Amino acid sequence: MSNEVYERIEVRPLAGALGAEVSGAQLGELDDATFAEIHRAWLAHEVLFFRDQDLGPEQHKAFGRRFGALQVHPFLHSRAPEGHPEIVVLESSAERPVVAAGWHTDVTFAERPPMASILRGVDVPAWGGDTMWASCRAAYDALSPTMQRMLEGLVAVHDTSKTFSRGAYPSERRPDANDTPTALHPVVRTHPETARKSIFVNPAFTLRIKGLRPAESDALLKFLYQHVTTPEFTCRFHWTKNAVALWDNRCTQHRVVADNLKAYRRMERVTVEGDRPA
Ligand SMILES: [Fe+2]
Repeated sequence: MSNEVYERIEVRPLAGALGAEVSGAQLGELDDATFAEIHRAWLAHEVLFFRDQDLGPEQHKAFGRRFGALQVHPFLHSRAPEGHPEIVVLESSAERPVVAAGWHTDVTFAERPPMASILRGVDVPAWGGDTMWASCRAAYDALSPTMQRMLEGLVAVHDTSKTFSRGAYPSERRPDANDTPTALHPVVRTHPETARKSIFVNPAFTLRIKGLRPAESDALLKFLYQHVTTPEFTCRFHWTKNAVALWDNRCTQHRVVADNLKAYRRMERVTVEGDRPA
């Protein structure tokens, strides 16, 4: 990782492929020089963690806006706090199961999936309910050159048919016939800021690879999903109250570990708009 010298923050890697815990910064009161270091560390480590952040909704959104315009989630906004439609509330309890217990990249059914997600632990269980991330860049790098060449130029279809469109899926609103989003994305995308390549298919929203027969597409996707989540390409974070995770949605997947189903857990997320994957 290049340029790994920081003057204002401390950056401690958590795992081999991605993830670092940052100390020395309060996200609600950042000067530009500290933000620039956080941004650099984020590009290098793909997901950053900050403990004990005193962030209200306004500061949470302001931190997100440093990266770009905020997205209002198409199907998860009805529980947003009054006056803050950009904040996605992710709540789970014994009566209300976790929605994100499978590996995914946020909102890839959109033509322009978000660049970044910023998740804050508001009420977190004493144990369990961790989140895991996987580096789709490390996974791409580990493929043979022959496989890398085979994936170049392939395009995948992404939609909500496995998630928000399904009756059993716990979302606040379902896409209807007029707004069922479908997007075509390259199977390998190039990061617009780091120029690194990564695998860009995920089991929640990718439907199939265009131009392949169903059995071929299923087999290749199954391999890629399994490969991306190889333990060596992942990291895992245990939440504490007021911890914040900031991840690069262009080169990672994540999931909740739903192992403490009875505990109440409330997370708030701000999502930053991204560009069209290429
Ligand atoms: Fe997510």
